[in-house]
Amino acid sequence: MGPNQRQRTRPEELPDPSGSSSSSPTKRKWSNFLPVLVGLVVIGEIAFLGRLDMAKNADLVNSWADSFYRFTKTTSSSWSTSSLTDDVGSGYTGGGALDDPGSEPEDSCEAWLEKEDSVAYSRDFKKVPIFVHGADEFKTCAVGCKFGFDSGKKPDAAFGLSQQDGTAGVLRSMESAQYYAENNIDLARRRGYHIVMTTSLSSDVPVGYFSWAEYDIMAPLQPKTESALAAAFISNCGARNFRLQALEAIEKANIKIDSYGSCHRNRDGNVDKVATLKRYKFSLAFENSNEEDYVTEKFFQSLVAGSVPVVVGAPNIQDFSPFPGSILHIRELKDVDSIVRKIKYLAKNSSAYNESLRWKFEGPSDSFKALVDMAAVHSSCRLCIYLATRILEKDEKTPEFKKRPCKCTRGLKTLYHIYARERGRFEMESVFLRSGNLTMEALNSAVLLKFKSLKHTPIWKYERPESIRGGDELKIYRIYPIGLTQRQALYTFRFKGDSDFRNHIESNPCAKFEVIFV
Ligand SMILES: *[C@@H]1O[C@H](CO)[C@@H](O)[C@H](O)[C@H]1NC(C)=O
Ligand SMILES: *[C@@H]1O[C@H](CO)[C@@H](O)[C@H](O)[C@H]1NC(C)=O
Ligand SMILES: *[C@@H]1O[C@H](CO)[C@@H](O)[C@H](O)[C@H]1NC(C)=O
Repeated sequence: MGPNQRQRTRPEELPDPSGSSSSSPTKRKWSNFLPVLVGLVVIGEIAFLGRLDMAKNADLVNSWADSFYRFTKTTSSSWSTSSLTDDVGSGYTGGGALDDPGSEPEDSCEAWLEKEDSVAYSRDFKKVPIFVHGADEFKTCAVGCKFGFDSGKKPDAAFGLSQQDGTAGVLRSMESAQYYAENNIDLARRRGYHIVMTTSLSSDVPVGYFSWAEYDIMAPLQPKTESALAAAFISNCGARNFRLQALEAIEKANIKIDSYGSCHRNRDGNVDKVATLKRYKFSLAFENSNEEDYVTEKFFQSLVAGSVPVVVGAPNIQDFSPFPGSILHIRELKDVDSIVRKIKYLAKNSSAYNESLRWKFEGPSDSFKALVDMAAVHSSCRLCIYLATRILEKDEKTPEFKKRPCKCTRGLKTLYHIYARERGRFEMESVFLRSGNLTMEALNSAVLLKFKSLKHTPIWKYERPESIRGGDELKIYRIYPIGLTQRQALYTFRFKGDSDFRNHIESNPCAKFEVIFV
């Protein structure tokens, strides 16, 4: 067993949620101390085995070490409330399951597959982190990830069109491709960029305007005290869409608008935008271009303020809606009339209006949470995960990896070995599926069971507003093959039934999946 295998089978350490109550100095000291304890036990074990045939027993030492690693992982992730002794107990029972000499043939298959399928990868990212030429701007990352300007080291990636072989050129921009054509994904690839990071959820590593950290999405409502129905912050009337015509059409329909931006200004613009929006029933969130996934702070600030967004912008803006019926979308100029009627109706009927802000009381939909949770991990870290994943994929094409059994047959039954990780994390966990039950439902329940047994903490746990963090239960929102874009993962990809899924498992040995928990 090489160091890389250890690294792979050893579950990743959970990032320490900084500032949370669970990371008091004493607790941290204890978990720092644990590896030493493990070391001592392993050394003790080796000393004991020294009297025996070492070669024969090396495996035993390894599995001992592994169960202790598992033990430290289990304890550190559930450290916050329980005492050391409690955790020792649960660590042993929880982590030991796979090491049990199985009474069922399936158990021995699992152990065998774990061993046979763990071929060492060529790079250990803990020792040799992904290096990106650029400014450091994130706190923690699930994979070894370093940003900087060390000229002596060849970077894995650099922003701009890449200069040297082996360094991926990264395009990162938050502007729309309608204004900056170079941000079009296909065009960027043709120009030689290897990795595209734009607001498009179809880009390799999306960079959105949204995040729990940036916007206090669940901020409480305030009374709507302004006489004008809607506020607008439109900095200039020019745009690559019909937003100016829409604004004029709404004004002509006798809907009073307070305009704080330089376009049709009738109010002093020197105000706090969100605080101002809170006093209005509606907010004209008019983007400068109608582009898929291009949704800026105009929209998210309206949500924070609890001012119903009236949107001119992304054709798929409903994907960004916190709840069905909570936003109004002017898709085309001819929609203005019906939207104006809707605004007037909602302005008069307070219970219907209140209904469109229901999500402020009951929380947003799973779909909204799953979208915004993506940004719980900084885009720079997501870039590192993307790069590291690609490096592993290269390894997996080598003969050594192609030789992995990935399934184990006993009689008429076959056990399939697959891997799963949470979106935003890097390390994979082993999951096993049975041939008699190679269904998506079985995949869901096997993955859920695995992560429950690991006492997994979802990556967004300390990022989301407290009121929508939920309890300790895990709920799967999506599972998809690794490598899909977020647009596919969140909205368009589905296995076409169980036979399609079975096909995928059969034709992708040791298939890897990513899971989104809500
Ligand atoms: C006002 O809205 C509520 C809730 O949508 C609806 O049940 C009611 O019929 C509406 N009232 C009027 C007068 O339209
Ligand atoms: C709006 O609805 C919420 C529940 O969805 C309720 O708690 C609140 O009192 C309502 N507010 C008004 C002004 O009707
Ligand atoms: C198949 O898996 C599902 C989901 O885990 C489970 O409910 C069902 O009992 C399983 N069926 C068999 C035949 O094992």
